[in-house]
Amino acid sequence: MNQFKIAVVVGSLRKDSFNRQLAQALVRLAPADFVCEFIDIGNLPLYNQDADAQPSDAVLAFKAKIQAANGLLFVTPEYNRSIPGVLKNALDQGSRPYGQNVWAGLPAGVLGISIGAIGTALAQQHLRNVLTFLDVPTLQQPEIFLQHKEGFFDADGNIGPASKDFLQNWVNRYADWVRKHQK
Ligand SMILES: Cc1cc2nc3c(=O)[nH]c(=O)nc-3n(C[C@H](O)[C@H](O)[C@H](O)COP(=O)(O)O)c2cc1C
Repeated sequence: MNQFKIAVVVGSLRKDSFNRQLAQALVRLAPADFVCEFIDIGNLPLYNQDADAQPSDAVLAFKAKIQAANGLLFVTPEYNRSIPGVLKNALDQGSRPYGQNVWAGLPAGVLGISIGAIGTALAQQHLRNVLTFLDVPTLQQPEIFLQHKEGFFDADGNIGPASKDFLQNWVNRYADWVRKHQK
């Protein structure tokens, strides 16, 4: 395989989202043979099982992008000690109709940044729970819990000096994980 296509799923729709900035900075740390595409989840309808028989174009296009990927990168805030509803909706959309779960088998990494002290720990744990059921092999270590503070990103939107090596190490481990789980 020459290139690894990574579907990047950000759990925040906010224009100035820290998690989106984090995802963009991580993509810049990825190896040259990793091609990362940000997947829009804000345009998906709310999941309704009645629509399984005739999914909307937005859902079909979303599922096709996930199916074409070699790996997944989830970067999410924590909302009320869990994952944002928009992310859960995307996970549900990709998991159905029954037997057509597009997430299955795709190696994933999970991380996030919040303004709170526990740095999305509970959101990540909830996400891992869902991904386990969806048969997604998810990198377990190192775990990453980030609290956003002044200077976390530098003026160019890259990871600031305090966390750069730490996150580069995580990206390297994630890249190894993706490579290892190709069929
Ligand atoms: C609905 C809502 C619930 C939140 N709940 C939590 C929470 O449980 N834990 C936490 O650390 N921060 C929580 N926050 C604060 C987020 O960490 C903060 O808004 C962060 O900037 C969201 O990520 P984003 O910048 O990527 O949008 C919450 C924010 C919102 C809007």
